Amino acid sequence: MSQREHLLVRAAFKQEIERTPVWVMRQAGRYLKEYREVREKAGSFLNLCMHTEMAAEVSIQPLDLIGVDAVIMFSDILTPLIGMGMDLNFDNGPKFNNPVRNEADIDALKLPDPDESTPYVGSILRLLRSEIKDRAPVIGFAGAPFTLASYMVEGGSSKLFQVVKTLFFNRPDLARKLMKKLTRMTIDYLNYQIENGAQMVQLFDTWAGIFSVDDFREFIFPSIQEIFAGLNDQGKVPRVYYINGGHHLLKLAAQSGADVVGLDWRPDLGETKRLIGDQVALQGNLDPNVLFCEPEVIKAKVKEILDKFGPQSGHIFNLGHGIDKEVNPDHLRVMVQAVKDLSVR
Ligand code: CP3
Repeated sequence: MSQREHLLVRAAFKQEIERTPVWVMRQAGRYLKEYREVREKAGSFLNLCMHTEMAAEVSIQPLDLIGVDAVIMFSDILTPLIGMGMDLNFDNGPKFNNPVRNEADIDALKLPDPDESTPYVGSILRLLRSEIKDRAPVIGFAGAPFTLASYMVEGGSSKLFQVVKTLFFNRPDLARKLMKKLTRMTIDYLNYQIENGAQMVQLFDTWAGIFSVDDFREFIFPSIQEIFAGLNDQGKVPRVYYINGGHHLLKLAAQSGADVVGLDWRPDLGETKRLIGDQVALQGNLDPNVLFCEPEVIKAKVKEILDKFGPQSGHIFNLGHGIDKEVNPDHLRVMVQAVKDLSVR
């Protein structure tokens, strides 16, 4: 490591920065033709996730091609569930052939040793650290327990979440049992990533926002607190908690033990800073669809967000959700360059 910690890590801990760091959720993905070429060679999305060299290659592409300030390891939130016994495929979006619907299904879930169930994750992280050296920090991640549970119970993606909500409301005892297992798995999995070189970790709770404040507090919040309390290297490896559609949950998110709260594009960044900015750093929150607009519009929207946060440390620029596969990479370059130019202290 050079004398100074990476910009991303300093912003996450609200230490002195010379400008705002920027990276993008799903930055390694289909909007890049270089990604699509490697994905083609791999044959399938899961093969790509499990192939150390190819996964590392696509992880590094946005650093070289776009100029972001961090590399997120290429993987998916659902892959560690394979080691728990889930039969996962990605033929047309994620699908589980053996959805979890009753107590026997929950009891059958294994708690794997990550070094045995996801050895490729450790080897991707180690390869990334040695290839990138000090050019940028490497971000690890996991799906939060409820977001994982929603796919496991529904059997795939869902719009209304009727099956998983019915299970949680009818049988809170089973919900707690499932959440407990997923919480344990997630702590082990993230600590494994930290041991293997992750320099920041993000917990994706994409679907937690479908719950009311009370239901979130009952079913989800305890597991998030337990995860952050159970992670190693506190104060050294920043921890991000991201919820999509979680504007009613921001105060709780700030009390979860995370160092950084990741925002979608809906909440006002200035108001959110006033609400929870004394407790946590903030990450976000450009509307991903802005990347379809003219370069001048992209720059103006970047400036609006930077101005809302102001010059203090404690902001990591990102989109409010993953980048769309139809975005022109030049537009993302415009966004990244605008953050770099307009945020110099
Ligand atoms: O951010 C990155 O660049 C790192 C890689 C990453 C992927 N997925 C790669 C991926 C990360 C961090 C994720 C997280 C993820 N995966 C989430 C949480 C964040 C969010 O988007 O809300 C969720 C809910 C998933 C589950 C998942 N994986 C879905 C719903 C899909 C299908 C989406 C689609 O657009 O088809 C995936 C597949 C997936 N994960 C792809 C990528 C690049 C596309 C598959 C392909 O290339 O064929």
